Amino acid sequence: MTPDLLQFYARPVPRYTSYPTAPHFSGAIGAREYEGWLADLAPGASLSLYVHVPFCDTLCWFCGCHTKITRRYAPVADYLAALMQEIAAVAGRVDPGCRVRHIHWGGGSPTILEGADLLALSGALRSGFTLAGDAEFAVEIDPRGLTANQIDSLAEAGLTRASIGIQDFDPQVQKAINRIQPYEETRDVIAGLRQRGVAAINVDLMYGLPNQDEARIGATIDQVLTLSPNRISLFGYAHVPWMKRHQEMIPQSSLPDVAARYAQAEFAARRLVEAGFARIGLDHFARPEDPLAKAAANGTMRRNFQGYTTDTADALLGFGASAIGRLPHGFVQNHVPIADYQRAVSGGGLSVAKGYAFQGEDLRRAHLIERLMCDLELSWSALEKEIGDCAGLRRDSAEALQQFARDGLIEPGPDGFSVTDQGRTFVRSICAAFDAYLPKSAARHSMAV
Ligand SMILES: C[S@@+](CC[C@H](N)C(=O)[O-])C[C@H]1O[C@@H](n2cnc3c(N)ncnc32)[C@H](O)[C@@H]1O
Ligand code: SF4
Repeated sequence: MTPDLLQFYARPVPRYTSYPTAPHFSGAIGAREYEGWLADLAPGASLSLYVHVPFCDTLCWFCGCHTKITRRYAPVADYLAALMQEIAAVAGRVDPGCRVRHIHWGGGSPTILEGADLLALSGALRSGFTLAGDAEFAVEIDPRGLTANQIDSLAEAGLTRASIGIQDFDPQVQKAINRIQPYEETRDVIAGLRQRGVAAINVDLMYGLPNQDEARIGATIDQVLTLSPNRISLFGYAHVPWMKRHQEMIPQSSLPDVAARYAQAEFAARRLVEAGFARIGLDHFARPEDPLAKAAANGTMRRNFQGYTTDTADALLGFGASAIGRLPHGFVQNHVPIADYQRAVSGGGLSVAKGYAFQGEDLRRAHLIERLMCDLELSWSALEKEIGDCAGLRRDSAEALQQFARDGLIEPGPDGFSVTDQGRTFVRSICAAFDAYLPKSAARHSMAV
């Protein structure tokens, strides 16, 4: 790719973990709407539950997540009590015939919870909702300081997939991001989880961090391969200091430029593919036998707020501060400030701060964008079977698609197009051509590369 094109397509775009994207949520949707939407869920509907734990004990300077640093356990215990209230409040409004197929705890660091509290939280979900026998239960785990007791509790709670934050093992990189995480500790946590029957291991890696170069990323990948993960996420560092003030601890001058970021991403991807991983969507890799690789291959992979997933549930219910839910009617997001969230759920209330009710063309465009993010190809005839007549969408996007083809991002076919290897990194920019709201949006996003 030429430097000019790279600069052009590296322009900020949304991550398309939802459509419309979160900046379009508004206060017009609140607890009352959520209550109605929950009551409308059909008795046989499948559910996915997301629980957000917005605490960590130290701050990684790159962090873009909703989290708060605490050295004391009291705020975590108070938060857990609020979560229990919210779980009971939502569960009481959902038809008991609904079946939970996926549970995901994210953060922050859910593993800030002590062993007994990990069990208490999973117990609350299990007693509030009906779980399918083969439900997946995934937890984001910061391995630093994780105890044997916590690992025992996670296993006892029925954890099926552990998602381990790594980022980079190089000491110079770790110092520059304020995250000291020895390889040996990470290895022992993964071994402990596997010994206790948690068979599926995901790891998070990042590129575009300060002090990173291809040699260091290559060395990290070599170490990661010895851990035999089932899936790897490879995230490009999103440097958004206007939203996350602490990222100012990472000087712009220590960061790779767009060309170096692109080279790092492609280098890491090549290494992982050579090691036998299937490259999936924008930023995921999985062993060919992993369910995500199979879903990607047979066109059933989905994309939600956690990224690429096998989760096909009819509704995603979010719990905790900042958590987002997706129901057939639209999106809801809880209050982000922890105190506001706790106040709202005390006494059995719901904590929705804003949301979005689907209207007009939204669901059709959402489906198109999700399929493009997942399949990296688009067949108009297949799409028309799913969302009806696409003449308008074809007409509106024709000019942009011609430009993508001239720039080598897509390969046109008789009935649509496929994203080229070169275009994969820019699939979000291709999706942006189908986003009816983007031109009107003042939201600032992170770079596409
Ligand atoms: C909630 S954390 C994972 C669990 C745990 N808190 C940890 O860090 O080990 C989610 C992941 O998001 C990614 N992440 C965080 N901040 C990011 C940023 N600014 N840009 C890109 N990825 C980021 C990291 O790979 C991180 O592991
Ligand atoms: S990356 Fe994970 S551990 Fe680090 S501050 Fe963010 S949420 Fe906490």
